Amino acid sequence: MPKPQKDNFSTKVVSIANQKGGVGKTTTAINLGAALAISGKKTLIIDFDPQGNASTGLGVDARSRTITMYDVLVDEVPIDQSIVKTGVNNLYLAPSSTDLSSADVELIGDRGRILRLKRSILDAKFQALGIEYIIIDCPPSLNLLTLNALAASNSVLVPLQCEFFALEGLSQLMLTVREIRESLNKSLVFEGIVLTMHDKRNNLSGQVEQDVRENLGGLVYETVVPRNVRLSEAPSFGMPGILYDKAGRGSIAYRRLAAEFVRREHSKKPTKPLELLENE
Ligand SMILES: Nc1ncnc2c1ncn2[C@@H]1O[C@H](COP(=O)(O)OP(=O)(O)OP(=O)(O)O)[C@@H](O)[C@H]1O
Ligand SMILES: [Mg+2]
Repeated sequence: MPKPQKDNFSTKVVSIANQKGGVGKTTTAINLGAALAISGKKTLIIDFDPQGNASTGLGVDARSRTITMYDVLVDEVPIDQSIVKTGVNNLYLAPSSTDLSSADVELIGDRGRILRLKRSILDAKFQALGIEYIIIDCPPSLNLLTLNALAASNSVLVPLQCEFFALEGLSQLMLTVREIRESLNKSLVFEGIVLTMHDKRNNLSGQVEQDVRENLGGLVYETVVPRNVRLSEAPSFGMPGILYDKAGRGSIAYRRLAAEFVRREHSKKPTKPLELLENE
């Protein structure tokens, strides 16, 4: 566990969500988390996907995971007991396990099941432990796990892959966020939308970018993550892309994204109201 520190800051919880599969959620969680950690901000990545890609990608393989998010969610083991150090200074991980896929069935009788993660995070007093950011890597579904993540978060960051149908499903996610806001978590906002796997040699990527910017305006980060093979190789070495290939294009983009993410927090740039998005 990280040593407690007395600095006066709050812990921000950000869900990385999109119910579409393979759009770059895990790659963004790992590399944004690592970039924040490297810049000196203690960051915890919660791997909330039974696939466990964030855990593996950070070098924590299935055999070495003792207490996982399954134990936290289903058996109410304190989340701080699940946390492990990663190979990156200031970056911690709460690992996942495949059992997590049965959590929705196991918790069916619990009326408070959507708030389990939130309660666990509040109980852990991360602020006192010096954790500045908690990044939750969500599964590709709007299931109980994603609802728990949204209910526990201050904001949601959505990766969109630069491909045809990029916006497909986004209105469903917007509606879900709105429902959570109206019921369980009034302060939930959109952190931003990041375009991923952009291929500048492909006209379609440019068209998708233009289309997304026209529709979603200021919500979309200026930083665009390029398609970059180094980012996809890195997880098999158990390390974030930004360290696997420090000078690579993917690495530069994720460092820029982290800088933009922090900059935006301090600016009051208006983002497009949710209602406009929901009507599209
Ligand atoms: N910018 C990129 N350039 C090249 N490959 C990438 C990039 N981003 C992600 N990938 C690769 O694309 C695949 C899907 O990415 P990732 O696992 O991050 O998506 P995901 O949204 O988390 O997927 P899932 O929905 O299954 O959880 C992975 O093999 C990953 O290595
Ligand atoms: Mg993933």
